[in-house]
Amino acid sequence: MLRTTLVCALLLFTTAPASAQPKAQTITSKGGVVACVSPPAADVGLAVLKRGGNAVDAAVAVGFAMAVTWPEAGNIGGGGFMMVAPPGKAPTCFEYRETAPAAAKVDLFADGKVTSLNHKAAGVPGTVRGLALAHSKYGKLPWKDVVTPAVELAEKGFTVNAALAGGLNRVLADPKTTNAEFKRVYGKPDGTKWKDGDTLVLTDLGLTLRLVAEKGADAFYTGAPAELLEKEMKDGGGLITRADLAAYKANERTPIHTTFRGFDVYGPPPPSSGGVALTEMLNVLENFDLKKHGRWSPEANHLMIETMKRAYADRARYLGDPGFTKIPDHLTTKEYAKKLAAGIDLKKTTPSAELAPEIAIDKESDSTTHFSVIDRDGLAVSNTYTLENSYGNRVVVRGAGYILNNEMTDFNPRPGFTGSNGMIGTRPNQIAPGKRMLSSMTPVIVRKDGKAALVTGSPGGRTIINTVLCVVLNVTEFEMSVGDAVSAPRTHHQWFPDAVRFEGVKQHPELVKELKALGHTITEARQGDAHSIRIDPKTGERTGAADKRLDGKAVGE
Ligand code: GLY
Repeated sequence: MLRTTLVCALLLFTTAPASAQPKAQTITSKGGVVACVSPPAADVGLAVLKRGGNAVDAAVAVGFAMAVTWPEAGNIGGGGFMMVAPPGKAPTCFEYRETAPAAAKVDLFADGKVTSLNHKAAGVPGTVRGLALAHSKYGKLPWKDVVTPAVELAEKGFTVNAALAGGLNRVLADPKTTNAEFKRVYGKPDGTKWKDGDTLVLTDLGLTLRLVAEKGADAFYTGAPAELLEKEMKDGGGLITRADLAAYKANERTPIHTTFRGFDVYGPPPPSSGGVALTEMLNVLENFDLKKHGRWSPEANHLMIETMKRAYADRARYLGDPGFTKIPDHLTTKEYAKKLAAGIDLKKTTPSAELAPEIAIDKESDSTTHFSVIDRDGLAVSNTYTLENSYGNRVVVRGAGYILNNEMTDFNPRPGFTGSNGMIGTRPNQIAPGKRMLSSMTPVIVRKDGKAALVTGSPGGRTIINTVLCVVLNVTEFEMSVGDAVSAPRTHHQWFPDAVRFEGVKQHPELVKELKALGHTITEARQGDAHSIRIDPKTGERTGAADKRLDGKAVGE
């Protein structure tokens, strides 16, 4: 016994990764599956499936529940993208991105005086209309039934876990959090720190959600909550008016589609950059045999990084709200990808400045959240939504109880100024009234023969698209299980800064050495939170994988 332990200890010491990413929690089922960051919201989704709801009912219920149970990114005051894929039929995308208010000016952030925590940083919220649009097209259960679980969580309260307690304690302790209503609503009533096992009650949010449950989405955009938001804006110097709210529309859009190794890959179209950039990258990478080289080989990783750089340069050059800017068709073609692939030097890195020399040369938030759902009939939903930064602009709308987004900071802040630190100032994503800011959100559904094979997505600002690329490649190219695909270290290059972020620096020192020899600058950072579902094309079994980098739960019928 002792000997075995010693041998095992020695083996562990010599071969185990130095600091592996947490192992995903998985569940396998023949029925419906939900995977998301917030355990009580995952339970809401499962309960809706068990009551006979379909995947859209469950996704809408999870979306509203997470507005209560995951306040750092779950929301009714923000926006997002929901991909829906009915088996055998064309997938679709419900786009509910925020818009710039009518009073917004192109140079809103140019002099640096308006910060991301200002009322002016909020775009017109889209989530309630977006979830209502998806439900009206695909939902089976009555609207009230899918919103009410969130009402109950808010009114009766729910159990705070360690991840939520930590996030709340951090944001409340930050001196930049100044909004009195935010502190009142999210502070612990006795003034002490939140801890695992406490109960959080959100009375005003419960009232707003109850109104939405009983009267529908219009009540949020034209009823009492709209008056409360206009008053909040007037008091706080913000821009959103009741007219902006009444004019807000969610859109149903055609997804961006490509093929990769016999799979069909569907992602969200502009105003997200996710579908276009992911397609461009997969189209480039299909020209190489990554699998032959191996997942942690310098060859495969060099090719992935060089591909990321090129797609992110195009993202900066061309992408924005399609209602305001013409998106070139060539970005998603196989011919264009072949040209990009031919331009990659296998022996050394291409400096980012060489890839877009005509663009004269802030950090983007990594707080958003993604959840994946499939029901017993194979209807798949992939939803990513956000307040932009964690807890948005940290303003709670007085009387309405919800947190406002600071999505206006996803527009290019300084027109004409693109910096080597990652700041982009190109025209397609500059502020204009009624325009949607460019997103990186990439909820994706991969299909095989018309049936869902992988549902995935992630938070992480500009890193989102590369997190999704890594998960999709891990499953489709490297044939990993979904648990391993989600846990595996991730890579990110966004053109500028001209450096690679790699989660596996400690686990893969040889790879890092070899990438450095090819000219790459490597830094280390945690990346993404990709709650995913894999459907075995042969058996139809579904495995949900909760990414444990933050928290999460995968549940199945
Ligand atoms: N706010 C993050 C995104 O839309 O990409």
